[in-house]
Amino acid sequence: MIRGGARLSGQVAVSGAKNSALKLMAAALLAPGVSILHNVPDIQDVRTMRELVEHLGARVTFSDGTMTIDTVGVQSHVAPYELVQRMRASIQIMGPLVARFGHARVAMPGGCNLGPRKIDFHLSGLRQLGADVRSDHGFVEVRAGRLRGSTIVLDYPSVGATENLLMAAVLAEGETVVDNAAREPEIVDLCKFLVSMGAIIEGAGTSEITVRGVLALQPAEHTVIGDRIEAGTFLIAGAITGGDVEVDGVSPHHLDIFLSKLRAIGVQVQENGRRVRAWGDPAYYSATDFATLPYPGFATDLQAPMIVLLSMAQGSSIVTENVFVNRFGFVDELVRLGADIKVSGHHAVVNGGRALTGATVRCPDLRAGAALVLAGLVAQGYTEIRDTFHIHRGYERFDAKLRSLGADVERVGPSHSHNSGARAPLGIASDAER
Ligand code: EPZ
Repeated sequence: MIRGGARLSGQVAVSGAKNSALKLMAAALLAPGVSILHNVPDIQDVRTMRELVEHLGARVTFSDGTMTIDTVGVQSHVAPYELVQRMRASIQIMGPLVARFGHARVAMPGGCNLGPRKIDFHLSGLRQLGADVRSDHGFVEVRAGRLRGSTIVLDYPSVGATENLLMAAVLAEGETVVDNAAREPEIVDLCKFLVSMGAIIEGAGTSEITVRGVLALQPAEHTVIGDRIEAGTFLIAGAITGGDVEVDGVSPHHLDIFLSKLRAIGVQVQENGRRVRAWGDPAYYSATDFATLPYPGFATDLQAPMIVLLSMAQGSSIVTENVFVNRFGFVDELVRLGADIKVSGHHAVVNGGRALTGATVRCPDLRAGAALVLAGLVAQGYTEIRDTFHIHRGYERFDAKLRSLGADVERVGPSHSHNSGARAPLGIASDAER
């Protein structure tokens, strides 16, 4: 429940990157023994991945952002449907398990709010490394002796496929080249962890990554990079409210295109070491077009928050979504708050300068949920956000961090239910009551 109108200002610490931590947890499966990860965000997806590695037989401790993963007891190689369906990133255990144990059985991920998300690149890459890949009864079964290095050219620089194949290739015999590899900072982070485990990898962060397979890896210790998506979300929170927010604990370089778009809109941006500050007056923001692309292009995970900012700017912006087909699903909810946005295929035209007014809205997915919260911060009156369990999948203490910047936001009612039945706190009228 948000009451719009507060200017957000102050500094906020960025948590560890969700999309790195999840893969690092999977990578820990590659070596027998105890790996230690620092700066792990305490979010639902991390808890789900913990459940998965524990289901496989690992022992995990987690406190104050430090996680230990003891893989000595790993005996199962099966990722059950219940966990894969809850979190698609569960499929990232495929590469490590087949590389170390010669076997992985992983439930096929089903439908997803972002549209059909196939795993064909993961599977064809594993086949090229010599694995036998079959599917039956809703599961993918991957078997191999020692994998054999190969040259794999990805049709598209898929983040997940690049990661799965790298984690498979590190223990393969001979050299693997992943061409048209994803270049996301989270890939570089994963490669650093793998190298500290004893892997031999060159070219991380470029589109051609070479891996020379080794016989075994050792457990290692690693600190997860800051979450560039969370950082971007808080910077927008400062900018849309006419406030002044500084995020601490992220590499500004990971946000290059995003920050240049903020500047093009008229937001003031200052980079200082591992801190970025954004401030400005929404009355002077102007429309800007952008298109999502694999890194270093504009991150699809910041598309929804950016649309909220553009709906405050004067003029019309064209937003093109090139990564996921269904990522404009939240637009209807934003329109309920008063935004003027038209979607046609993978383009959205955002007619800015409209005043938003609070209403009850529902989160369709994680990033869209965060974007709706941002909209609530500027909408006049109260905005009730339902299905906030999506937000808790990926943002650590989101409401508390927003409150620390001055937002008037309260968690009311359970976030895990699809029918949260959120109740207004005393004095706050629910949508139905207004
Ligand atoms: C990762 O998803 C992230 N998830 C996503 O973040 C992020 O949006 C995405 O990368 C792009 O940056 C995690 O890291 C856990 P892809 P991933 O494979 O790996 C198609 C969030 O909100 N494709 O790069 O699944 C696919 O359908 C999430 O934090 C195939 O066709 O993304 C999509 O259109 C959402 N076949 C495109 O490629 C395949 O085998 C990019 O997917 C694999 C992918």
